[in-house]
Amino acid sequence: MTMGHDVGPIAEKQRARGLIVAIDGPAGVGKSTVAKLLASRLGYLYLDTGALYRATAWAVIESGLDTADAKGVEALLPTLSLHMQFHQGVATVFVNGRDVSGDLRTPEVSAAASVVSAISAVRAWLLPIQRQIGQGGAVVAEGRDMGTKVFASADVKFFLEADPTVRAQRRHRELVAAGHSGGLEKTSADLTRRDTRDRSRSIAPLVPAEDARFIDTSTLSIAEVVDQMMAVVAAKL
Ligand code: DC
Repeated sequence: MTMGHDVGPIAEKQRARGLIVAIDGPAGVGKSTVAKLLASRLGYLYLDTGALYRATAWAVIESGLDTADAKGVEALLPTLSLHMQFHQGVATVFVNGRDVSGDLRTPEVSAAASVVSAISAVRAWLLPIQRQIGQGGAVVAEGRDMGTKVFASADVKFFLEADPTVRAQRRHRELVAAGHSGGLEKTSADLTRRDTRDRSRSIAPLVPAEDARFIDTSTLSIAEVVDQMMAVVAAKL
């Protein structure tokens, strides 16, 4: 198993004196969009941990295994090499040397990622990869257990929520734009199923950290959410 990341010398220098910002929340809440913008405003690295779960799920599908076959998935992990490369704020994800970045956002991979992310061996395998990338600081890390587990001592923690109908509409628009949608109703049902699984699993369920700041994004614009976050982060700089 190999793993790694490549952030480049300038980013590396900035990271030595930056904060760790953790953002958690369910799917469709706008996490990725605001995390990316916040990272860019701060000149920080944007760490999309969902992409690592998605890449793992992609590899499971590719291998022909059933995503629910926890033992089989666990046995597959040592054969995988997962690598994240960062260039000007954009991450490219490689599985065994193959760039899979463009294949990670399909409904099939989304559902599979939610299933494999409930396997403890997968979470344990991805933990050091995430920490290795983020522990130097100057990072905005986004996922489900950033504030509770991966970066439990993060300098700033946010937990985003939004009305389920709003989240389904947002996700639907994203999928339509990417040419993947099977309709709003299906997207809404998929999201509810994934949410229930992510929130109720026994390991690292999606729960807010005690010291996380809540932001309800239902009626806020992207800019308003980023401004609120920026104000909190700026007070810590
Ligand atoms: O954020 P996302 O939709 O790309 O995440 C895909 C799946 O991965 C999601 O259903 C839950 C899982 N995940 C997780 O369990 N822990 C994380 N830190 C990030 C994602």
